[in-house]
Formats: sequence, structure tokens, C-alpha cells
Amino acid sequence: MSQMIKLLLFLLFLTNPVFSQLDDLYFPGFNHVTSNMSLNGAAVIEKNGILRLTNNTQHTVGHAFYSSPVKFRNSSNGKSFSFSTAFAFAIVPENPRIRGHGFAFTISTSKELPGALPSQYLGLLNATDSGNFSNHLFAVEFDTVKDYDLHDINDNHVGIDINSMISNKSVPAASFLVNSTTKDLNLCSGRPIQAWVDYDSIKNLVEVRLSSFSKRPVSPILSCKLDLSPIFKDYMYVGFSSSTGLLTSTHYILGWSFSMKGEAKSLSLPSLPSLPGHKKNHTGLILGVTTLATFLIILIVATTFYLSSKKKKADVTEAWELDIGPHRFSYQELKKATKNFRDEELLGFGGFGKVYKGTLPNSNTEIAVKRICHESKQGLKEFLTEIASIGRLRHRNLVRLLGWCRQQGDLLLVYDFMTNGSLDKFLFDNPKTILKWEQRFNIIKGVASGLLYLHEEWEQTVIHRDIKAGNVLLDSELNGRLGDFGLAKLYDRNSNPITTKVVGTLGYLAPELTRTGKPTTGSDVFAFGALLLEVVCGRKPIEPKALPEELVLVDLVWDRWKSGSILDVVDPRLNGEFNEHEAVLVLKLGLMCSNNAPNARPPMRQVARYLEGEVALPELVAAPNAYDGKNVNANKVGRELVDHKHSYPISSNLEKVSTWSFDGDYGDPDIEAGSDSALPSSGGSECK
Ligand SMILES: *[C@@H]1O[C@H](CO)[C@@H](O)[C@H](O)[C@H]1NC(C)=O
Ligand SMILES: *[C@@H]1O[C@H](CO)[C@@H](O)[C@H](O)[C@H]1NC(C)=O
Ligand SMILES: *[C@@H]1O[C@H](CO)[C@@H](O)[C@H](O)[C@H]1NC(C)=O
Ligand SMILES: *[C@@H]1O[C@H](CO)[C@@H](O)[C@H](O)[C@H]1NC(C)=O
Ligand SMILES: *[C@@H]1O[C@H](CO)[C@@H](O)[C@H](O)[C@H]1NC(C)=O
Ligand SMILES: *[C@@H]1O[C@H](CO)[C@@H](O)[C@H](O)[C@H]1NC(C)=O
Ligand SMILES: *[C@@H]1O[C@H](CO)[C@@H](O)[C@H](O)[C@H]1NC(C)=O
Repeated sequence: MSQMIKLLLFLLFLTNPVFSQLDDLYFPGFNHVTSNMSLNGAAVIEKNGILRLTNNTQHTVGHAFYSSPVKFRNSSNGKSFSFSTAFAFAIVPENPRIRGHGFAFTISTSKELPGALPSQYLGLLNATDSGNFSNHLFAVEFDTVKDYDLHDINDNHVGIDINSMISNKSVPAASFLVNSTTKDLNLCSGRPIQAWVDYDSIKNLVEVRLSSFSKRPVSPILSCKLDLSPIFKDYMYVGFSSSTGLLTSTHYILGWSFSMKGEAKSLSLPSLPSLPGHKKNHTGLILGVTTLATFLIILIVATTFYLSSKKKKADVTEAWELDIGPHRFSYQELKKATKNFRDEELLGFGGFGKVYKGTLPNSNTEIAVKRICHESKQGLKEFLTEIASIGRLRHRNLVRLLGWCRQQGDLLLVYDFMTNGSLDKFLFDNPKTILKWEQRFNIIKGVASGLLYLHEEWEQTVIHRDIKAGNVLLDSELNGRLGDFGLAKLYDRNSNPITTKVVGTLGYLAPELTRTGKPTTGSDVFAFGALLLEVVCGRKPIEPKALPEELVLVDLVWDRWKSGSILDVVDPRLNGEFNEHEAVLVLKLGLMCSNNAPNARPPMRQVARYLEGEVALPELVAAPNAYDGKNVNANKVGRELVDHKHSYPISSNLEKVSTWSFDGDYGDPDIEAGSDSALPSSGGSECK
């Protein structure tokens, strides 16, 4: 009986000209169906039938859709149809440790997706249209970068996206085993993975399965109650979209099957076209030829390397640099961008070197290039490995690192250009513009959010080590963004393990740092406390000019707090126009963060809650210096350094005179910090 109905239904489908247009798709490789696929962007079908969505070019998108529209919805009742699909993919990152962005199985109203952006938008949407119901977009993303703004759960997840890049539901990539345990799957392993996406229009249920085998797993890893009827239009295009960003991965689709008449046929992974570099070794001949070819290539590459390194010792590319990833800028490009590093393009002197403004020749992107001189190769290698990872940090309150370049002894770091420069220019030394209170409070909240991200919200704890007004950059809308994160570490690596270098800036150094030499999230909070007081008071943490005795801002604020006249310290340039409640909140919080006892300082999570008004501050605030009975405390260190400072040429515009690096053993409290071993540092050595 049911056979009968099936047959009838089948006949009905055949006679219905619209619905019958799509027979089941079964593409175990794409070489015979190139005319059935519409490709754009970087997507190509390679000779062996593999569909490559992107290549190793930065910031590109690749789209591949089935060329005809498919009927996804019943026009008479507006109800979407069920569908089922299976596809095999492989993501090959440029470097195993550094992954580019992912790709998405996509059902959309267009096969070109005009206006869609690469990077975290996966070639699907852009910042303005993401989230708009008029997009009519359904996608299952296989995402390999954790994007904070898009609330990504990790850098290896599967998510369901409805009209938006913020996933409706997502789970870490894994496959379900028979005995109902899950096994983590690395999407970026470079090996084929099969995915199944099924939509049941009766149960309104979307299910996603993943496996590194050909057999369809019994249980889904992701299932989501969803009625796609309002998302779909009657006719939609179905296919794949992917993108690269600063870091790249190559995305391959090895085979695809799709059905609207029941479960799509699973693909047999071993019979699909093989990935480049993963040649099947059925025959010894292929193996032999491949080995020989590889050997020859290695030989040629090695010889070229040897010869070129012999020829010009000046700019040798070392093997480990190739390992770091693709975001290396060429020196020529940066030279052109900064008009040959001419002085007119100089934005300022950072603690580690000069900063130039530039415009990238091809894209007209404005950039800031920091030129650091460095002679120790060892430290540089480790440092670059680190920035490769830091380059993946993304948060609206962090200045984005775009890339780097090495030229002889110099390291060039490329950042987003921040229109309004650094915060210190707005606070000290007769600034041209006086920031209003709302702007200051917004900057403070922004920096707190960026620092919280570094401390607690990224996959590993990042300690900034050099929080100060000069390292807070302001974008075109005067939002505060932290720059230079992780950079202080470059000078932390000393070839002699006995000496410890403390890197930081006078007035922002937590007292325990000078003893232990070990930066912590607590020492960042201390520096953040100094920053809070600065922003409210419009004064530097330590002002040697306020003679006869230099002014220590935290002492002054504490003094006024005790005497009940705390609002006296607020920057007079605000002309009394500020929110008193907020000002007191920030000052009080500044005192709490400036506590000499590390465990008396609130963690950034708590700081952010106080600032957002989610939690009230405690009534009482402990004296910042209640804890130290000994002579080692921040202010003391500050004073001693100030004495030294007078023997060096001082220009208050130059951050570098206030960036200090201590050499010496601070384990012994009898050795006074700031003794002869304290040397000023502009980052180790002078750049020519
Ligand atoms: C692919 O395209 C060819 C020619 O355009 C057509 O005859 C064939 O039916 C298509 N195959 C599929 C599976 O759509
Ligand atoms: C990679 O894709 C880009 C964008 O479509 C293209 O311009 C470039 O030539 C491709 N590179 C290679 C090596 O195929
Ligand atoms: C579309 O909906 C109408 C009305 O509910 C129904 O009669 C028809 O069978 C449906 N068509 C398909 C192809 O499901
Ligand atoms: C975003 O995409 C839409 C199309 O979906 C396009 O009309 C719009 O111009 C794009 N916006 C930007 C800023 O590129
Ligand atoms: C959504 O997109 C439509 C058409 O592009 C546009 O008119 C509308 O303003 C957008 N809505 C929002 C909230 O951006
Ligand atoms: C998920 O999609 C459903 C249906 O469109 C919607 O009601 C719900 O708010 C979405 N959830 C999230 C977290 O976006
Ligand atoms: C589940 O099955 C896998 C592979 O079949 C096996 O390695 C694992 O030990 C099993 N786990 C349990 C809890 O039975």
C-alpha cells in the first residue's frame, strides 16, 4: 500500500514540471558537472574534479552554487520542503598552528552574494546586512576562527546561521560515535571530513552530523528546532561559501550529494578525488615519482636558499619565518606605504621604536607601521611565533595587528591606523581638544572590556604588561582601543636567565613586579588603576615637575578621598561638567586597582561589572599602601627612578624616556630598585 503511495507521489513529482527540475544530486567529485556549478571569487574546479573554494590569497571569498535555482518552498501554502545533503570537505590551513577562516553550506537567494565580505563574514554577509530578515539566508558554518564580536564559542565549531553571522546555535566540532560518546574533530586537520545536514519540515528540525568516515552517524552533534518557511523564498540557490582573512586556509569540497526526496546518499570518502599533496599510493610508480619529485623540489629549494642566503646576507628569509604564516608584508610594500619612512609620516615614538603612518599601495588601507630594532635573533623568533597567535586576537577595543615584516635587524609591525592617535595627547600638556566626561567614561569602559578580553575571554591569558595612556589609541569615534599588547614580552627574553628584566612604564608598575619580575593580570590591573586616575584627573601618575616634591597621583587622590573632597581632583578643564556619580565610581575603582597588595585588586571581570553598573562598589576602600611595611613600594620605586630621570634628557612628548627596563636581581629587598642597574630603555637599542 505504502509502496503504491510512494509510486503515485513519484509520478506526481515527475509530472510537476517545477519540482522535478532537481533530481537528486550526487557529485562524487565535480569533473563531469563543471557546467552545473556556478563559481565565483577564488573558487575553481581542479583537474581531478576537486572543488577548491579559496586559495592562499588573503581576504578573498569563494562561492560555488548549483547553477539552477531550486524550489525550497511550496508557493501555495508557503511551507518549506524538507531537504537532506551530505558533502565531504577538507580545510588545509596555510600553517597547522595558524588557522584561517572557515566555510559554510549555504542556501541563499543569490549565487553571487554581492557585497559579502571575507574574513569572519565567510563571504556570506557584511557588517551592515548581518542580522537583517530580508537576507533570506540559511547557512551551516564550519568556522575555524573564534570571533569575539560574533559570539563564537571556539575556533573549531559548527553553527547554524539564520540571516546573521551570529550563530543561532553552535557546538564544538565533533563526531558522534555508536556508543553515544563524542569524539572531537579538528576541522582544520587537512583530512577529509563528511558532513550531513538534514531538515525535516514536519518536525521543523535541522540536524548536522559530522564524521571522518563514510558512514552516516546515527546521532547528530547539532540539532536545532527551526521552521525555515519564513527564511526561504520559493526558489533558492544551494551551495558553498568560504573566505580567507589575514590568515588563510584552503577549502576543498571533495564531493556533494543533495536530495529533496529523503535522506541524501552518503559519500564514500576513499572514492572521492584526492587532495593535492595526498596522492593515493595504489601503485609504487606514483609513490616513486612523487618521492623523487618531492626530493628534487626540496633539493632545488634548498639550493636556492643556500645560494640566495650566500648572495645577500642582508635580508635572508629563515625557515622558521615561513612557518609563521602568510601575513608577512614585503619590505618594499611598507616602504612604499610610508613613502620611504620619511619623517613627515612619523606619528610618534613608541616605547619600542618609531611609528609611521602609511597607506597600502593596492588597497588604500591606512596603516600604522611600528619600526622596532632588534638584534637578538632568538628572542625575535619566539616573539614572532607569539604575534602570529596574537594576530588572531580580535576585539573592538584592541588595535588590530595586520602583519609584520623583518628587514635586517628591524622588525616592522603593521597595525590598523587610529585616526585620533593616543589618549595621552588628549590629557596632558595643553591638549588641543578637551575630552568631555562622557567620552572619557566611554574610553575607560572600552579599555576595561579590551583588557578583560585579553585576561579572561580569549583562549589563553594574555598579559598586556604596558597599560598606559600612550598605549590607548582612539579610533574615529573616540573609542578607546588598547595597542602594543604582548610587545613588552620582546624585551623580557634575556639570554641570561639570572637577570630579570621588568618592562613597563614608570608610575604604572605594580610594586610586586620589581621584586618578582613576573607580570601578572594583577600587575595589569594596577596599571589600569593608574590609567583610571589619570583620565579623571588629567594628570600623569607621577609628575616630577610638581616640585619641590614630585606629585604622586594615587597619593593625592587617596589624600582627598580621606578628607572627603574627592571631587577636587577631577580635571579642572572639564569646568565642572561631569557626572559626579560616575567620577566617584572611577576614582574609587582607581584606588582599589592601585592597591599595593596584588590580591586586594579586583580582577578585570569585576572591574568591568563595576563600570557597567552591574554591581555596586564596596563602601570602604583600603588605603592603597596599607600593605607595605617595608621600603619597597611603587611610589618609592617611582621616586628613585625620577631621580635618575633627571640625568637624562627629558622631553615629555617622548614616551621613551618614561619606559624603563630594569636589569638586576630584585629578589633581595636590600637592593634598592632604581640603583645603578636601572637603565632607560627605548626598547633595547636605538634605531637608526
Ligand atoms: C548538468 O548540466 C547538463 C548540461 O547543462 C545537464 O544536461 C544535466 O542534466 C545537469 N546535471 C545535473 C545533475 O543537474
Ligand atoms: C587566488 O584567488 C585570487 C582571487 O580570485 C586570484 O586573484 C589569484 O590569482 C588566485 N591565486 C592562485 C595562486 O590561484
Ligand atoms: C503545496 O501545498 C498545497 C496546499 O497545501 C498542497 O495541496 C500541495 O500538495 C503542496 N505541494 C507540494 C509539492 O507539496
Ligand atoms: C552589504 O551587502 C548588501 C547586499 O546584501 C549590499 O547591498 C551592501 O552595499 C553591502 N554593504 C557594504 C557596506 O558593503
Ligand atoms: C534590512 O534590509 C532592507 C533591504 O535591504 C532595508 O530596507 C532595511 O532598512 C534593513 N533593515 C535593517 C534593520 O537594517
Ligand atoms: C534562532 O532562530 C529562531 C527562529 O528564527 C529565533 O526565534 C531565535 O531567536 C533564534 N535564536 C538566536 C539565539 O538567534
Ligand atoms: C566508544 O567507542 C570507541 C570506539 O568504538 C571506543 O574507543 C571507546 O572506548 C568507547 N567508549 C565507551 C565509553 O564505551
